[in-house]
Amino acid sequence: MPINNVNTLDKLQLDGKRVIMRVDFNVPLQNGKITDDTRIKAALPTIEYILARARQLVLASHLGRPDGVVSDLSLEPVAAHLSELLQQNVSLLNDYHHNSVFKLATQMPEEKLIVLENLRFYKEEKSNDRDFAGNLANGFDIYVGEAFGTLHRAHASVVGAPQFFSPSQRGVGFLVAGELLALEKITAAAKPPFLLIIGGAKVRDKITVILNLLKHCHQVLVGGSMAYAFLQHAGYEVSKSRVDVQSEHVEAIIRTAAERKVEIILPSDHVAAQQLAADATPIHVDSPSLPVDSIGLDIGSKTSAQYSRIIAKARTIFWNAPLGKFEWDSYAQGTRVVATAIAANRDAYRVVGGGDSLAALKKFNIDGFDHISTGGGAALQYLAGEPMAGLKALKG
Ligand code: 3PG
Repeated sequence: MPINNVNTLDKLQLDGKRVIMRVDFNVPLQNGKITDDTRIKAALPTIEYILARARQLVLASHLGRPDGVVSDLSLEPVAAHLSELLQQNVSLLNDYHHNSVFKLATQMPEEKLIVLENLRFYKEEKSNDRDFAGNLANGFDIYVGEAFGTLHRAHASVVGAPQFFSPSQRGVGFLVAGELLALEKITAAAKPPFLLIIGGAKVRDKITVILNLLKHCHQVLVGGSMAYAFLQHAGYEVSKSRVDVQSEHVEAIIRTAAERKVEIILPSDHVAAQQLAADATPIHVDSPSLPVDSIGLDIGSKTSAQYSRIIAKARTIFWNAPLGKFEWDSYAQGTRVVATAIAANRDAYRVVGGGDSLAALKKFNIDGFDHISTGGGAALQYLAGEPMAGLKALKG
């Protein structure tokens, strides 16, 4: 079934073909070891589906944001891990910069699965250079866009390469199709009441998303730095808490929410500290205002109990970003309680998006969400109603 006019895998003629697929293997590494392989595992069903049909599959991905060749950001550990997961040989292809990837791959006829070295080792990837895109694409029979997390980037492998294929030769894999359906369910077919839970530190990046989601949701629970911006605007003392958003943006959200009769709910208590340090003594503050010289680092227990009661009544929930500094145990309770309450509400359709929320779920060992998005920025851009360059490039 086509989604947004983009072919899904079942529409592509894969039998005996040579396929190039853009994946998002931008995984965290520590001392050369992958610390979270969620994104690799999420692409496995598509990789296996293609391998069962096609003659050869070449996977292309970026890793990090290197400026030139950076050996620590090689995809070598990713290729090795993929080989382990699939129990089959995976070759890493280097030095394809000025060459046709197709020609290099056909010189490796025994290799069914090839991973290209980090696309971002070459500046032509980010500048969407036409020759570079042509070198990635020319010769292959089919292009599959499976890098949901990168669909909002107008890069050569995402936007340039698919243009070398006719609409019937390009499409998305299971991962992208699943992401689009899940996010569409939030924007186009949300069951009421639809609850938006928003936190985190990157407040400025989320203004458009919130404004767009106010068209669909009924209530908003606010935590993290976002909460201090709203509390300050409401006249409460936020002391040294982080507020990185202009008050006109807060005003725009409050105005739009009022027009649409959406209720915005703010914390009524906090866990604060006097310094921004993991071992700082937590101070429990039983009021929306914070004491002088303190920094708010988590929602308090009264707030998390109130948020849990609201969560239990919701039928659609989108959660983006933690409600406190969950990485530090003394300030993790709010995020833990809220995540547990979402997981417990089996009557709701529950979606979580954004890297930090995923890290929180991992830390607390919580599952039971209906959809966990693999794309942070990409999911937010989609939910903001802004066009995604990579999706546009795949359309028929
Ligand atoms: C991500 O981690 O969100 C994607 O891999 C995109 O990475 P980028 O923000 O460096 O383009």
